[in-house]
Amino acid sequence: MAKMAASMVESGEDVFRKIFKFYKRRHPPPDFSDVIDFSRGVKHDKVVQAKLDPAVVSDVDAARVGLQPVRDWRAFGLQGYPGFIFISNPFLLGSQPFWVRQCLKTYPQKPNICNLDMHMSPSETQDIWGKSLHGLSSPPSGKREPKTLLERLRWVTLGYHYNWDTKTYSANQYTPFPADLTLLSVQITAACGFPGFNAEAGILNYYRSDSSLGIHVDESELDHSRPLLSFSFGQSAIFLLGGTRRQDPPTAMYMHSGDVMVMSGQSRLLYHAVPRIVPAPQGHAPLKMDGCNPALSLQDSTVVEQISEQDWAVCSKYIQSSRVNMTVRQVLGPGQSFPEEPSHHKKTDAGRTVTYHDEPADEESGKMKRSRCDC
Ligand code: OGA
Ligand code: MN
Repeated sequence: MAKMAASMVESGEDVFRKIFKFYKRRHPPPDFSDVIDFSRGVKHDKVVQAKLDPAVVSDVDAARVGLQPVRDWRAFGLQGYPGFIFISNPFLLGSQPFWVRQCLKTYPQKPNICNLDMHMSPSETQDIWGKSLHGLSSPPSGKREPKTLLERLRWVTLGYHYNWDTKTYSANQYTPFPADLTLLSVQITAACGFPGFNAEAGILNYYRSDSSLGIHVDESELDHSRPLLSFSFGQSAIFLLGGTRRQDPPTAMYMHSGDVMVMSGQSRLLYHAVPRIVPAPQGHAPLKMDGCNPALSLQDSTVVEQISEQDWAVCSKYIQSSRVNMTVRQVLGPGQSFPEEPSHHKKTDAGRTVTYHDEPADEESGKMKRSRCDC
C-alpha cells in the first residue's frame, strides 16, 4: 500500500472520507499505484477470477444487446467483498457508441426525469439533444459561451423515479423502463447467477472531468437481495468500495469505458463513492465501427444498431471530457409492493452527493449535501 494511504488508515475515524479526499486532491496529484486495474487481469493479490454461467445467455442474445459471448467475458471478484463482480468491458467492438447515444440522446427525453426539470419547464427540457447540437458542434468563438443543456445535464432517472429529497421510490412516480436497457440488464444479471432480475429503476450520472460522487450506500430499494448493476462509458473513474462502516478502509479501482459492476449479496449495501474522473487510457475509448459489424446485425431483433455519423460526432466529442454512469436497480422483490403510507423519511449518512466545480464544495466542511442536483 502506498505510504500516504497507509498512514491515513492508521489514523482511525472515518477512514473512507480521508481516502476519498486523498484521491480527489489535485495539488499535488495523489499516488495512483494502489488503484486496481481489472483491465490488466489478475495482477493484484485481492483480484480473483469470477465464475459466470455462459449457458444461460446465448451468443445471439448477447450480441443483440451489443455484448460478447459470455464465455469471453473477463469477470473478476475481490477478496473480502463477496457478491461483488467486475466485468471488464464485455461489449462487442463498436457497440458502446449505441449505449452512449442512448444515454445522451434518448434517455434524457420525456417521460424520463432529469436535473434540468427541477428548475425548467417541460417545454424547455423537451429536446435537450436538439437544443444542444449547435453549441456542441460549432468551434469555440473565443468568447465565453453559455453551456448547452447537454453540458448542464447531471442526472436522469428511469422507471421508478428516485426522489432525491425523500430518498425514496414510489408507486405513483413511475414511467416505463426502457426495453433495451432491460434486455441488457437481464442478460448480465442472468450470467452472474441472478435469473428473473427486474430492471425497475435507473439513475444515470453525467460527470465532467472535475466531478465526483460522494460517499453513500444504495439502500432505498425495498429488496436488497437483488443485485445493482453499474455501467461506465467515456472517461475513466476511480471507484472506492468500502465496507458497512465508514471506518472500513475502501478499495480503489479504475472503471473504464464499457466496464460493468455488479453489487450483490453482502456487497450490495457497502459504502462506495467516485472521488475522481481520470482520462481514459489509450485503447479504452469506445469506437464506432465503420460499415456494418456483422455481430451487430445477426438478426432483425437486434437492439443495438449502428448510430449515424452525426450522432457519433456529438457523442464522441462529449465523452472526450466526460463520463456517463448508468445504474440499474430492482426496487421491489417478487410480490412486494410499496407501503401504503410513505415510510418516515429517515435521513442517514448514506445520502449521496455529486460535486461539480461550479458549485460550492462541501466536502471540506464535512457537511453532506442532501441532493446532487446542481441547481
Ligand atoms: C450511483 C453510483 C457510481 C458511478 O449512482 O449510485 O454509485 O460509478 N454510481 O458513477
Ligand atoms: Mn451508488
